[in-house]
Amino acid sequence: MIDLSIGQPSPWLLPAAAMQKAAAHCAADPGCVLLAYGAEQGDSQFRLALSGFLEGIYGMPVDPAHLLVTNGASQAIDLICTLFSKAGDTIFVEEPTYFLARKIFADHHLKPMALPMDADGLIIEAVEEELKRARPAFLYTIPTYHNPTSACLSDARRKQLAELCRGYDILVVADEVYHPLSYTSVPAAPLAAFCTSAKVISLGSFSKILAPGLRIGWLQAAPATIERIVKCGLLDSGGGLNPFTSGVVRSAMQLGLMDENLALLKDTYSRRMQAMCAALRSKLRASVQFTEPSGGFFIWLSLPDGRDTLDLLAKAKTRNVEFMPGPKFSSRQGLKNCLRLSFAYYDTPDLLKGIERLAAVIGQV
Ligand SMILES: Cc1ncc(COP(=O)(O)O)c(C=O)c1O
Repeated sequence: MIDLSIGQPSPWLLPAAAMQKAAAHCAADPGCVLLAYGAEQGDSQFRLALSGFLEGIYGMPVDPAHLLVTNGASQAIDLICTLFSKAGDTIFVEEPTYFLARKIFADHHLKPMALPMDADGLIIEAVEEELKRARPAFLYTIPTYHNPTSACLSDARRKQLAELCRGYDILVVADEVYHPLSYTSVPAAPLAAFCTSAKVISLGSFSKILAPGLRIGWLQAAPATIERIVKCGLLDSGGGLNPFTSGVVRSAMQLGLMDENLALLKDTYSRRMQAMCAALRSKLRASVQFTEPSGGFFIWLSLPDGRDTLDLLAKAKTRNVEFMPGPKFSSRQGLKNCLRLSFAYYDTPDLLKGIERLAAVIGQV
């Protein structure tokens, strides 16, 4: 089976040796402060190292006071739902959107209102139109290397969105976990750039750029928002999230291991993505439409209207290939003719084998 739905790194890309070095470096530091309850906002030394790392990626200043340590973007989304919404609230999401964020929103009994996207990301006029009818608890967006489409919100739209949400006083939750994984072009400045001028919470994670098992990420927001989060019951009771791991990841940043790992990931994923797109063009040109991603993990395929990717998946499994069908990402049971492929898990030879099997299935009917 070649399962092209898997959106996580190949086992060989998990940086075991680097983490061993980082852990040894961290453990050599005398004292046991990392084993005590941590500061609610996260260790200040870690946030300082993280701000330096982010400045390199974002090309803009990042104030460590605007960063708060999380257990990853999923936990941050869950916490934001807890603190900034209540059961029954409407939230705005993109159509399509990250399928597991949909599940977290369902846990909180939120009602997603699906807003359309195009090749340049979320359509801002559609947001404005909907704001005339409903006020959401927040708007959840994946502006850069979207999951599942890999679309990037254009620079102009980022400004428009921040402006619009400032005008309507709407909280924007920007899931920017793929932003550092750029391959063929430099993305626009993250929505984190608008944190202090609008109500924006930007989410980042080490899951996509180091290792998901670390369960560590961050959020970036204006001081008033940070203050609100710092005072929540979860952090009051348990202290800052993951102080020990944050110490190890700080060492990884200080030793340059983080930069080395990111360079390896970008090089590997970029090659795989290009090989996969070339195979799709040569084997499936007539039957699918897609845009070559410029970063991230995914390729989003559109089949002609009327094709059903749920049916197709059942057939694909008999040919030992899987993918993620479009309806998983839809908040209104649409996107039946779309599917998502990931190039994060397999190396190029297996990816190409997977495309060959997929082409046989798609070409069958
Ligand atoms: C858009 C998006 N947000 C969040 C996550 C989960 O991130 P984390 O591992 O930091 O919880 C993923 C993982 O697939 C994702 O694609």
